[in-house]
Amino acid sequence: MRIVDLRSDTVTKPSPEMWEALKSMDNNKLGDDVEHEDPTVNKLEEKAARLMGMPAALFVTSGTQGNLISILSQTRPGEEILLEEHSHVVKWEVGGVARIGGLMVNTFPSVKGTFNPSTLSWLVRDSSDIHQPVTSMIALENTHNYHGGIALKTELFSKTRDVADEFSLKVHLDGARIFNACVALKVPITEYTRHVHSIQFCLSKGLSCPIGSIIAGSEDFIEHARKIRKLIGGGFRQGGIIAVMGLIALEPKWIQRLEEDHAIAKLLAKSISEIEAEKPVHVPTPDTNIVMVEFKQNIPMETIYKVVNELHKQGVLCFDMGPRIRLVTHYGITKEDIDYCIPIIQNTLCNLL
Ligand SMILES: Cc1ncc(COP(=O)(O)O)c(C=O)c1O
Repeated sequence: MRIVDLRSDTVTKPSPEMWEALKSMDNNKLGDDVEHEDPTVNKLEEKAARLMGMPAALFVTSGTQGNLISILSQTRPGEEILLEEHSHVVKWEVGGVARIGGLMVNTFPSVKGTFNPSTLSWLVRDSSDIHQPVTSMIALENTHNYHGGIALKTELFSKTRDVADEFSLKVHLDGARIFNACVALKVPITEYTRHVHSIQFCLSKGLSCPIGSIIAGSEDFIEHARKIRKLIGGGFRQGGIIAVMGLIALEPKWIQRLEEDHAIAKLLAKSISEIEAEKPVHVPTPDTNIVMVEFKQNIPMETIYKVVNELHKQGVLCFDMGPRIRLVTHYGITKEDIDYCIPIIQNTLCNLL
């Protein structure tokens, strides 16, 4: 049976160019990265820092680890950090910032990821009050996974930075899919990075590397982050074996390729939305590569699980996300795959709703 895996862009496998680059590796291109001696990792970090327009970068194992290291490196236990209520750090990172970082999390709402940055100032604690902790960071997410891969505008970042500067807060960006935002809105990445103190982005999602994320920021931040990475057991030894594929992932052609994922995501959303007149579904036009099938009425979760299970049986893999169904396009998914899935998804929704 044909399988079309739309669960996540984390299921991507290396491209032929990445395999070629891996085959061209030899021991001269490897070293002990904990000692900062792996030439391939060093090359990747230098390339990533240049691309981000930031002084330094660090290769880490995952997006979750990149966020944790970035947050721990710029805060102290007992402080409070501000996060949008549905952000990945809050929902899906095992509470690491609380358990490992000893941090309090204060969340704020948004409308599909967008909020009024001036309202953040209401959340900043008065640390001169003996009862209150110190607020030390605001962490944003772009694109916003939970809100359906929404690409947030650069103005949101500049205004958030104004609030952060007023209260001497750090700004971290969980940019797991930041290049999707850049490609969708046609803005250079530096238009985001110039407003933040640190960024984490994933090599292992749409950029189709098998493993890895990058964090970037100032020299001091990265020096500290390197130590925190070691503390949590993330020190690479001969990491060049993986970093060599990261170097390919950062080629402009690979970043621009994300446009293809966005185009087929739009096609998928538009086609599913054709059943909106008959069935209580709503499928917003995606900004990037994440399609969300929303339900207009309160559909029981059991029905949503049934739809997901039935799609799985027919080879279309996807996840439920709250009372919605998420479908993600990525490297390896073609327009033919999407054309194949459309009637399966439409019929399954029509039969089960
Ligand atoms: C927005 C966002 N941040 C962070 C992560 C974590 O990345 P990883 O799975 O590499 O830990 C994800 C993963 O899906 C994500 O969507």
